[in-house]
Amino acid sequence: MSERRSAPPASPETTLGLSVLRTRDGSCTVYDHKLDERYHSVHGAVQESFHVFIRMGLEATAAIPLRVLEVGLGTGLNMLLTWVEADLTGRNVAYTALEPFPLSLALLVEMDHTAALELPERSGPFLELMTLKEGAIAQASATFNFQVLATPVQEFDRSAAYDLIYFDAFGPATQPGMWTLDVFQRMFNALAPGGILVTYCAKGAVRRTMQAAGFITERVPGPVGKKEMLRARKPD
Ligand SMILES: C[S@@+](CC[C@H](N)C(=O)[O-])C[C@H]1O[C@@H](n2cnc3c(N)ncnc32)[C@H](O)[C@@H]1O
Repeated sequence: MSERRSAPPASPETTLGLSVLRTRDGSCTVYDHKLDERYHSVHGAVQESFHVFIRMGLEATAAIPLRVLEVGLGTGLNMLLTWVEADLTGRNVAYTALEPFPLSLALLVEMDHTAALELPERSGPFLELMTLKEGAIAQASATFNFQVLATPVQEFDRSAAYDLIYFDAFGPATQPGMWTLDVFQRMFNALAPGGILVTYCAKGAVRRTMQAAGFITERVPGPVGKKEMLRARKPD
């Protein structure tokens, strides 16, 4: 069973098998009826994303500029939180996200992450980033640039190009093909020495696969509703 499931009530306005759900911190996520999987924890999309990717990932890296690779752009919440963080701290961030199955504009508007973060002025610019042409690079602010690639992670092939990976795939039970040795070898190769990968997942089998790919792994405290998550480092 996927770590993100727990029988969420589906909203009636299902479009193309996807519907918007409100999570416990008031922010929204998407429920995929076909996969029976949510994009975020029911305990709170914003609290989960902030804890797993910003607190345990971005704040644990020192690189400036910081080159981030996200596996699974989805609703864009991790990207939005990272952009806000870059602007608040003045740290330069170059953000590349992989997403072979982009969500519709209508769904993104319905979810309205910028409202949950009380940042209505970012609504238009955020939606522009989320609908950016594949492969184009947008300078969203003085400190943040963004690019989305349609490449599936199983075909992603870059070497020492990133300092931080947000590994935000659907859970191993739902999409086992995202959690293979080959994929983690690609992630290892994509990181610069000393770079880190973070994921909400805490499964022992995933940790061992990461280690087999060359990572040094640690279990760190998870977000609300999860005891632990994984952080993996490429040795210097
Ligand atoms: C858990 S959701 C990501 C949530 C997202 N990070 C957010 O902040 O909303 C997993 C994402 O992985 C994407 N995905 C599915 N197959 C993929 C693949 N082969 N390579 C990269 N991403 C994939 C899905 O389309 C989905 O958007």
